[in-house]
Amino acid sequence: MKILVTGGLGYIGSHTVVELQNAGYDVVIVDNLSNTHIEVLEQIEKISGIKPEFSKFDLSDYNACINFFNINKDIDGIIHFAAYKAVGESVEKPLIYYRNNIGSLINIMENMNMHNIPNLVFSSSCTVYGQPDELPVTEKAPRKTAMSPYGNTKQIAEDIISDTVYASSMKAIALRYFNPVGAHETALIGELPLGVPNNLMPFITQTASGIREQLSVFGEDYNTPDGTAIRDYIHVVDLAKAHVIAVERMLKANNKKNYEVFNLGTGNGYSVLEVIKSFEKVTGLKLNYKIVNRREGDIEKVWAETSFANDELGWKAEKGIDEMTLSAWKFQEKLDKERK
Ligand code: WQD
Repeated sequence: MKILVTGGLGYIGSHTVVELQNAGYDVVIVDNLSNTHIEVLEQIEKISGIKPEFSKFDLSDYNACINFFNINKDIDGIIHFAAYKAVGESVEKPLIYYRNNIGSLINIMENMNMHNIPNLVFSSSCTVYGQPDELPVTEKAPRKTAMSPYGNTKQIAEDIISDTVYASSMKAIALRYFNPVGAHETALIGELPLGVPNNLMPFITQTASGIREQLSVFGEDYNTPDGTAIRDYIHVVDLAKAHVIAVERMLKANNKKNYEVFNLGTGNGYSVLEVIKSFEKVTGLKLNYKIVNRREGDIEKVWAETSFANDELGWKAEKGIDEMTLSAWKFQEKLDKERK
């Protein structure tokens, strides 16, 4: 069976390619390298022993997509990661986000229709919930008005997929990630830094390694036990494994509906200060940070209700916060060693 992984050289994509290969799938990657490096391809091969097929082009390019799918006729399923994902940047450049994130998806689904490719796994986000009214948040919770164009592209994409599935014989699963962090145990792949990190974990590891002067903790006046915001951090390898299970669910026709949505979280919420404490514990390092004002657009607290994914997919996140922070640090140490 051959699976197309779009954005397969990216952070979650590369970890998913490794798990697909471990499960015996052939993989073809499409990536435009806008937010990653080609070296990730050889790292994947070092881990799995198998070099995936790779095509470099932009999925928002209509003709490039047509050409690719005319040549690659043996695709049994698609896992679609390729998208821009910086919340702040999406506020400054909305049209680039709509063109890329929505345009790519439409190109992919048109080609799925043309070539009878039946299965799609979509990389969605808990961002679609905004600040949930109830916690833990279930898949039945209402989607809130997105706080950013990035979040809105995820909501629009979910609607495009459900409408297209309804009108065709296609099947799709949207996976709503909570906060992906950490790195593969080999430290050969992880969250590659390109520019100043928006996300907490890479900022922590870069501060500890001296690349950044100090971590700013965005707000200590939230209605939480220690005042800092709470998120459901999930290890990227746990997340990757869920993608293999999701595509397999459709390949084996075990899906209960043609369009399904699953939360991918651990069900545990950790505050920023708790993440810092875990990092300091597992590394023995003292992190230089200061409390500053809240970041605009941040929600206060969110963590997943995971029973639907646990029961229906037979999947449960296994790695705890200490393994997440330690693996992130091990990856940073390897990057630092290569830089010297
Ligand atoms: C986590 C917590 C910050 C940086 C976003 C998207 C989500 C997904 C992941 C792409 C928050 C705090 C952060 C820093 C801090 N997107 N923080 N100092 O905002 O929960 O989720 O990224 O994959 O869809 O919405 O993740 O890592 O930016 O922030 O205090 O320098 O850490 O305020 O409470 P977020 P994050």
